Amino acid sequence: MFIFTPKCLVLIYYTFFVPQSLCSTLKKSTNLHHNHIHGSSSSSLTYLWPLPSHFTSGDQTLSINPSLSLSLVSDNGVSVILTTAFDRYKGMIFKHGGNGGGVGFGLVRKLRESLVKVSSYEYDINQLKIIVHSDNEELQLGVDESYTLKVSKSKEHYIVGEATIEANTVYGALHGLETFSQLCFFDYTTKTVQIYKAPWSIQDEPRFSYRGLMLDTSRHYLPIDVIKQIIESMSYAKFNVLHWHIIDEESFPLEIPAYSNLWKGSYTKWERYTLEDAYEIVNFAKMRGINVMAEMDVPGHAESWGTGYPDLWPSPSCREPLDVSKTFTFDVISGILTDLRKIFPFELFHLGGDEVNTSCWSHTSHVKEWLQNHNMTAKDAYEYFVLKAQDIAISKNWTPVNWEETFIAFPAKLHPKTIVHNWYDSGVCAKAVAKGFRCIFSNQGFWYLDHLDVSWDEVYTAEPLEGIYNASEQKLVIGGEVCMWGETADTSNVQQTIWPRAAAAAERLWSRRDSTSAKNITLTALPRLQHFRCLLNRRGVPAAPVTNFYARSAPVGPGSCYDQ
Ligand SMILES: *[C@@H]1O[C@H](CO)[C@@H](O)[C@H](O)[C@H]1NC(C)=O
Ligand SMILES: *[C@@H]1O[C@H](CO)[C@@H](O)[C@H](O)[C@H]1NC(C)=O
Ligand SMILES: *[C@@H]1O[C@H](CO)[C@@H](O)[C@H](O)[C@H]1NC(C)=O
Ligand SMILES: *[C@@H]1O[C@H](CO)[C@@H](O)[C@H](O)[C@H]1NC(C)=O
Repeated sequence: MFIFTPKCLVLIYYTFFVPQSLCSTLKKSTNLHHNHIHGSSSSSLTYLWPLPSHFTSGDQTLSINPSLSLSLVSDNGVSVILTTAFDRYKGMIFKHGGNGGGVGFGLVRKLRESLVKVSSYEYDINQLKIIVHSDNEELQLGVDESYTLKVSKSKEHYIVGEATIEANTVYGALHGLETFSQLCFFDYTTKTVQIYKAPWSIQDEPRFSYRGLMLDTSRHYLPIDVIKQIIESMSYAKFNVLHWHIIDEESFPLEIPAYSNLWKGSYTKWERYTLEDAYEIVNFAKMRGINVMAEMDVPGHAESWGTGYPDLWPSPSCREPLDVSKTFTFDVISGILTDLRKIFPFELFHLGGDEVNTSCWSHTSHVKEWLQNHNMTAKDAYEYFVLKAQDIAISKNWTPVNWEETFIAFPAKLHPKTIVHNWYDSGVCAKAVAKGFRCIFSNQGFWYLDHLDVSWDEVYTAEPLEGIYNASEQKLVIGGEVCMWGETADTSNVQQTIWPRAAAAAERLWSRRDSTSAKNITLTALPRLQHFRCLLNRRGVPAAPVTNFYARSAPVGPGSCYDQ
């Protein structure tokens, strides 16, 4: 249920009349359930993840009407993004029987009401008002994701109780909804959903504009539903980019109409994505404020391309890197980029360029001859290939992203729009921004999720701006990304490998640097992260215990979710 309110009609809601006598019949208890989750130690902690940039709270407890209605205030039309998000979040907030829900719930509630002689409920918050100032729903890097959230009991009894989210874009409003949902707790005594520590006033915005998670669907195929589950869970931690490493040397699962034999390189004909699947993923992600950045990694990591088109291999015994000497190679790249441009609206496109071993180019006679004719070394040809792929991508209106090897090998030649993606070495972003490039931080020692021995606190303390002190250079670090390489992760374990450690990076990327850099994060972050992990579990995400020595392993023994 939602109510659409043009800006000029807001006043109607302010004059909505609730008889004063009804309002005063039920005084809510305050403070009683404040600490029920963590025992007595935690009243000063705010159980929000990632931590908002500015907030104040109080000591009241407010109840939320399970028939919470939505009041949308915007200049232009009803946003489907917001109305569907509101319904989604209502489902997450009101899970328990006794709170409206279906027919069965209603019966149970009636029965209970007759038993405990509670005939009418009255709630402090009956409506969620969302005010969005811009009707532009284009999702791109740097879109305004800020929002404010206010939750307080109305002082005037005749005003319907409401919480308010205000944002410049729907994407800010989505983050506000997530934060609102994290304030809501089901109280098992009153069987109502309550917000503790009200009134809340939250003013929030991300520290970095690029907050990514990489998924690898070449080493293991991930079904569409699993990718969607992961996207959905990303929105809980306010991630905003899914970097889809679709293709690699092992398999080519994606349909490319321009070169329809390419997906013969899939493991089986059942492990493929149609273009419609890809579009569906992009749209599903957009509805949650998440961009999808596709990757086509060239010229290395591309052996699977040759299954459908063996001409792309220099020779049957030299299948990687792709044949630099043939125009056909670049025709295929151009065809792929033309097809993908129709599906992926995000301005960033990842062209890979990592781990290129050119030795077999030099040992394949026709490539060797081509190199000589062009007066190129194999290293020159690697540069030639990467730059040519960049030109094709730029001609199709993409901004190229490349792994750091390209920057290390020929920094002066890369297109100035290039975004350098760090993974291997530390200090790469510092070098890249000093040369004027933008950079994404993914240092493998901390943010490679397939490294199972990296603990949550090492993930949490990794800092994208490490070693960068010049403010204008700091601005060139657009953010960071955790990478879920798929060699040892498939549907059976991918989500428990991603979560909860990805959330540690998500807070580093979203929250203010001073609030994530406390001396003792065991005190300031760990209990909140454990809480967030339990929230993921409650929402059906199989996030692993936080303090495991190895990520994704099972709990060591019996115990509360909040302690493990
Ligand atoms: C490159 O490939 C060749 C041939 O497969 C191999 O002998 C060599 O060790 C590789 N070089 C590196 C740096 O991996
Ligand atoms: C080949 O390249 C080398 C080094 O870049 C250069 O010195 C030389 O003049 C070039 N030769 C020709 C024929 O272009
Ligand atoms: C900061 O970096 C920019 C760009 O590299 C440079 O122009 C500027 O002089 C630097 N400022 C300081 C204080 O070093
Ligand atoms: C950090 O806080 C935890 C929990 O209170 C405590 O056990 C630990 O000793 C503290 N560590 C430091 C370095 O102060």
